[in-house]
Amino acid sequence: MTQPMKAQNARIKIDVDRIVGEVDSLIYGNFLEHLGRAVYSGAYDPDSPLADEDGFRKDVIQAAKDLNVTQLRYPGGNFVSNYHWQDGVGSDRVPRMELAWGRLESNEFGTNEFMQFTNKIGAKPYFAVNMGTGTMTEAQRWVEYTNVEEGPYYAELRKKHGYEEPWNIKYWSLGNEMDGFWQIGHLNAEDYAKKARETAKVMQLTDPAISLIAAGASNFRPDANPMHWNRVVLEELKNVVDYLALHIYVGNPDNNYYNFLSTPLVLEERTELVEGLIREIMSRADRGDRPSIKIAWDEWNVWYRARAGESMSGERALEERYNLEDALVVAGFLNAFVRNADIVKMANMAQLVNVIAPMYTNENDMFKQTIYYPLQLFSEHTYGTALDVYVDSETYDTERFFVGLGESQTQQSDVPYLDVSASYKDNGEVIINVVNRHKDKAITTDIISQKGKFTGGFKVYEVNGPDVKAQNNFEETNVETEEKSSIQADGSKVTYSFPAHSYTLIKGKITTD
Ligand code: AHR
Repeated sequence: MTQPMKAQNARIKIDVDRIVGEVDSLIYGNFLEHLGRAVYSGAYDPDSPLADEDGFRKDVIQAAKDLNVTQLRYPGGNFVSNYHWQDGVGSDRVPRMELAWGRLESNEFGTNEFMQFTNKIGAKPYFAVNMGTGTMTEAQRWVEYTNVEEGPYYAELRKKHGYEEPWNIKYWSLGNEMDGFWQIGHLNAEDYAKKARETAKVMQLTDPAISLIAAGASNFRPDANPMHWNRVVLEELKNVVDYLALHIYVGNPDNNYYNFLSTPLVLEERTELVEGLIREIMSRADRGDRPSIKIAWDEWNVWYRARAGESMSGERALEERYNLEDALVVAGFLNAFVRNADIVKMANMAQLVNVIAPMYTNENDMFKQTIYYPLQLFSEHTYGTALDVYVDSETYDTERFFVGLGESQTQQSDVPYLDVSASYKDNGEVIINVVNRHKDKAITTDIISQKGKFTGGFKVYEVNGPDVKAQNNFEETNVETEEKSSIQADGSKVTYSFPAHSYTLIKGKITTD
């Protein structure tokens, strides 16, 4: 239920001494799964006039570079639980029935093609091993193939395939969503934890420099017990892994804008719960010099339209088309990552291209979906130390609603219309991200510096569109980033009016001496 706006200005207070933690650039990751048109005709399309000399789409590469993708997760997702990496290397590629998403997998694109693509877009690779139909030996041999310089069979096999130098893949996750009944080879928490521990052992013995991610809970259906899963997994792997992976997908199936706009708060609640659990279990861990386990939100996005029936399999699976309200939710997720920068050290928007993605291609063209723009603004500007920001704005209460399809319900009270995060760099630069969730009203806001003064010209970028359902397509761009007139600041307060249904990034300076 929405409440009337107060007459006085809203307030955002920035205090450069109130530090949360360093914003890790790995929160600006994406995901490329063998699914629908993500790999084939998205990233890789050798027959396309838009392909480069190696068969990769040049327009997709450029858009991914502009998006500053810091790391790219591969090869799945549900796909990985029936994927055998040796089918996708060398000259003898083996076509397979792909059981997770109902396709024929040609295996034309595999480990080395992915690494070429990732290098072209300037991202770090993040691999997931098969904990469904796969074995620990298979996982060990993949690390040997990619990371060992020379000597053993699989390192030599890589060289024979034409890749003399190891790829040195640092990030590896131990399976995907193994708590989900939909996962091929789904396990209970105890069985997963043991299998993951032993798989981790042989992978780390092969390359001690790797960093491991355990599959945390992804099943939030009413009959699941996600915190039991997280507890068992963390307990067993407390001295072994570096991250716990969490996933979230939200949607607006009932067409309730205000409920939907509050969904990033659910991510924040889950983050806080898991953070508490990590702290408790870390108090009993023996990790030597290794830092405590962190959270990797390694799948997150809006996904509900292409999430049932025919859109769940085949050639055009999961081709979600996004609008402005989705972009505002995406900005809200990113705000939540920054506000929790002490514990959220990795995140991957699922996915990169065509499949629930910020980019969408056809044979001749590509366009940027609405959700591209907030991610691009954050990944270009929001770095440094995240600050604990005070926000005073009008609030609203939501109804009781489903967070995602088939998931448990939530109800959110006192949701502030202004959703804010901020970070501060050593050079005095301050970056303020503000979503105005109000559908109809601009919110005039005093932005106050608690320590030091705002100085100079503040740059202002805004993502907005004609209405909350506005979309982009091949012909029209209705939602994108606009650079607004800069604000001249001199003193401890600037006043700005955040337009209805907008996301704004303000970048300025604070002088503290
Ligand atoms: O990103 C689409 C799918 O969502 C992934 O394959 C799976 O991990 C999740 O359920």
